[in-house]
Amino acid sequence: MCGVIGYTGKGEAIDFLLYGLQTLEYRGYDSAGVAVLSPDDNLHLVKVAGRVAALKERCDAANLVGTTGIGHTRWATHGAPTDRNAHPHTSCDGRIAVVHNGIIENYETLRRQLMAEGHSFKSDTDTEVVAHLIEDAWRGPARGDLASAVRYACDRLEGSWALGVVCADCPGEVVVTRKASPLVVASTKDGAYAASDVMPLAKATSHCLQLDDYDIATLHEDGTIDIVDREGNAVEHPKPLDIDWDASAATLGGYSDFMAKEIAEQPAAISRLLKDRLGKHGVELDELSMSNDDLAAIDRVYMVACGTSYHVSLIARELVQDWAKIPVFCEYASELNYKEPLVTDHTLCVIITQSGETADTLTAARRMKALGCKVFAITNVLGSSAARESDGTMYIQAGPEVCVASTKAYTAQMVASALLALRLALANGSMDEDEVRGHFASLEQVPGLMEEVISRRWQDKQAARVFRNAKSALFLGRGVNSTTAYEGALKLKEISYLHAEAYPAGEMKHGPIALLEPGFPVVAIVPADHVHDKTVSNIEESIARGATVVAVATDGDERVAKLCENVLWIPPCPEEWIVPLVAVVHLQLLARYVARARGCDVDKPRNLAKSVTVE
Ligand code: F6R
Repeated sequence: MCGVIGYTGKGEAIDFLLYGLQTLEYRGYDSAGVAVLSPDDNLHLVKVAGRVAALKERCDAANLVGTTGIGHTRWATHGAPTDRNAHPHTSCDGRIAVVHNGIIENYETLRRQLMAEGHSFKSDTDTEVVAHLIEDAWRGPARGDLASAVRYACDRLEGSWALGVVCADCPGEVVVTRKASPLVVASTKDGAYAASDVMPLAKATSHCLQLDDYDIATLHEDGTIDIVDREGNAVEHPKPLDIDWDASAATLGGYSDFMAKEIAEQPAAISRLLKDRLGKHGVELDELSMSNDDLAAIDRVYMVACGTSYHVSLIARELVQDWAKIPVFCEYASELNYKEPLVTDHTLCVIITQSGETADTLTAARRMKALGCKVFAITNVLGSSAARESDGTMYIQAGPEVCVASTKAYTAQMVASALLALRLALANGSMDEDEVRGHFASLEQVPGLMEEVISRRWQDKQAARVFRNAKSALFLGRGVNSTTAYEGALKLKEISYLHAEAYPAGEMKHGPIALLEPGFPVVAIVPADHVHDKTVSNIEESIARGATVVAVATDGDERVAKLCENVLWIPPCPEEWIVPLVAVVHLQLLARYVARARGCDVDKPRNLAKSVTVE
């Protein structure tokens, strides 16, 4: 949801800015822009509606020279994605430029006030007020000190922001600040860097610094960084953040798209997550930062998440309830924020968020914390707000997930939730160590089972043909695999723009069956489990109405083989709850093949952004 980048140092700024924006493009990709300070102390802006590749072409033509600059890749909130609304935005005199991620909630009031004072506006964005406020402060109370001017301006803002600011009168200086939007900085001998996340910085350093809300950092050309707090006092010991992702983790590495790469990375990600988890006390989950007694006392769990991560919570609910016998409430974060949660003295709140920056999830977590709950985060991104603000954090260690549609984070979060469920069950005595070890052994088979599915991707490619002329599709599954159906439908619609909906298979006859007509695609998840016969009946009902059924079934299932021409076969799984981890790989592959056949950009679906930092 917008990526912000800044650099000042020995190198040409534009090289790092464009590289960084490409790395951050998953955050938003409807327009992009840069401002570079030229050696004659003027600001040169290039902005374009469209992707970073289009910006690069314009920048190449403009031949931007200078060692200080800022950049932005946008996911529009206020104002259409046009050249005019692309960031950076400038002050009236064009000597101050600003890039912004977040939302300035009081921008209308500020804009009116500024216009009354004689400022003229060039865009429809909320961001532009910031450039004008800095301009006022620069000429007024800040007396030509850029960091102070930014501080004065921020004092008048409401909402969320990660800001990058350059001023033509401050060569070799970039000022950055944040409130409730992510931003990291790094100091190196070659220059100083700022970015919305660590990925662009991984090429230059493995050590970053985290900024607290309202901290203001001034990046200097010699690579040093000064940080002050909201009152202007020096922050002597900013929080360090070590990057353990190497820069190549965010490159295609021979794959045609990140989705293909990230689907293929799942077995390795799961193996990494399971490594060293089995200790002498069963599953080790020190990240919970809670004593065994406190864990044993937990009498209710709230699982809070959005989108694909919410689907993880639905499966986690089954595991925690089955194994630890603790009631679980799954809530969309955006819904929980407007409800009164039923919190007890021993309620654990688990937030599940790949990016760790989803605004709805963070707001819910803050609320649950304020109500006295311990908040445990399951997340992927190191040093993310979710990790910083929670009482305990489990990193899923999946490596950067660049494709906007989540794949490897989904399965890794599911494994992390299973570990949490085992830990809770062991703590409160619902399960003994042998049972825990038994379930863990099943988890250890997942990487191999996933590898097998990936090697069968030709089946998904073939089945994708079923969707060639489709306008809609229905996904069905029972028990834990109703969630697999939800996730399969979400993947299909978000990357192929084909309407899809999902239901627990037994619900089909209560409404969705009306959709069926000859050739209508139904994807049925029908593994060898205790509800197999019931789901087969639903397949038969669908076929009887002319639907074309694509089944996900277990090797050797002759009934399904006879009924369906297209079967996505999965190898036998050691336990029923393992199936969602394996079957979903087929549905990810299927969605990708359908999307590619329809000419869609699978990594960057329209209207979406990887990290949704607005509520
Ligand atoms: C779908 C997808 C989204 C995210 C959702 C939450 O493929 O990726 O639905 O799951 O926006 O994001 P996180 O997990 O970062 O909180």
